[in-house]
Amino acid sequence: MNQQFKVVASGKYVPSDIVTNQDLEKIIDTSDEWIRTRTGIKERRKANEEVCSDLATFAAKDAIDRYQYDLNNIDIIIVATITGEQQTPSIANVVQGKLGITRPIMSFDINAACTGFVYALDIASSLLQTKRFKSALVIGSERLSSILDYTDRNTCILFGDGAGALIIEQDDQARPSYFLNGAKPDLTDVLTVRGTIAMDGKRVYQFAVDIVEKSIINVVEQAGLKLTDIDRILPHQANERIIQSVSKSLSLPMEKFAMNIENYGNTSAASIPILLAEYMADGHQNETILVVGFGGGFTFGAAIFYI
Ligand code: COA
Repeated sequence: MNQQFKVVASGKYVPSDIVTNQDLEKIIDTSDEWIRTRTGIKERRKANEEVCSDLATFAAKDAIDRYQYDLNNIDIIIVATITGEQQTPSIANVVQGKLGITRPIMSFDINAACTGFVYALDIASSLLQTKRFKSALVIGSERLSSILDYTDRNTCILFGDGAGALIIEQDDQARPSYFLNGAKPDLTDVLTVRGTIAMDGKRVYQFAVDIVEKSIINVVEQAGLKLTDIDRILPHQANERIIQSVSKSLSLPMEKFAMNIENYGNTSAASIPILLAEYMADGHQNETILVVGFGGGFTFGAAIFYI
C-alpha cells in the first residue's frame, strides 16, 4: 500500500548543558583526539532538570511554533524512546498532556532503539493511510545520560540527550513514500540496556556499515528510484566513520549525507529527527530525502519521503 503523506512541521530541542571531549578527559582515561578521530564527536548535550517527556514536549512545541501548526489537528502522538522517565503513563501520553491536548487522541511509545524514529514514522504514516486519522506528531526523544555508565569509556563518550519532532498529514496528492524496516535479532548481548548501556562496539560497527549500505540500496530499489534521485541522505548519527565507509562503498560523496554528530553525539531515536529539523530549518524544501537508521536489537530501517 502506498503511504502518502506530507511533512508539515519539524522541530528539535537539545538541553543547554554541553559536555565537551575535554570535559570527559577529566573523568575517564580518554582524549579529545581519540574521540574525534574514532567517532567524529566533539561535544554532546546533557539534560539537567529535564526528563525525557520534557525534551519531547519542547521539540514538539518547537515544531508547532516554528510552522504555526494548529495543535487541534493532531490525531496521533508516537514517541520513540528507550529512556522514558517511567513505563506508564507513556511518554507520548505525557506529551499529549503537557501540550494541553484534551481530545481523546491516540498516543503511545515504541522501542526500536536507535531505529525508533524510522519505525515510528512508518507506523504513523500507515495509520494515516487508513484515513481514520489526519495528522500525526512523531517524536524521537532520549535522555541517554541517565543510562550511561560514566566509568565505561567504550560507551559514555558516544551518547547525548535531545529530541526531534515531525508532524505529518495524510495527503492523497503527495508522492508516495517508501519504508523498509526490519530486525535481525542478536541475542548475544552485543548491545544491551539493563540499567546502563553495554556494548561490543566493534560488532555493532560491523553490523552498522553493512546494514546501512544494504538499507539504502534496498529502499531506493523498492521506490523504483536511483541513488541520483535522492537529494540528501539523513543517516542515524552514531559514528562519522560508519557514514564515511558507506559513502565510499556506494561511491557517494560525503556531501550527500547530512551530518551533525560533532555537536550532539549519538542521541539514539532522536538523532534523525534532530538532523531533519535542522535540515529543514536551513531552508531545504521540495527535496527527496532518505533517512536510514540502525540500533540495538539489531533493528534497522530506511525511508524515502519528500519535504
Ligand atoms: N578513549 C581512549 N581509548 C579508548 C576509548 C576511549 N573512549 N574507548 C576505547 N578505547 C581503546 C580500547 O580500549 C582499545 O584499546 P586496546 O587496543 O589497548 O585494547 C582501543 O581504544 C581500540 O578500541 P576499539 O574498540 O577497537 O576501537 P574502535 O576503533 O572500534 O572504536 C567505537 C570504538 C565504539 C568508537 C566503535 O567501535 C563504534 O563506534 N562502534 C559502533 C558503536 C555504535 O554505533 N553504537 C550505537 C549503535 S546505535
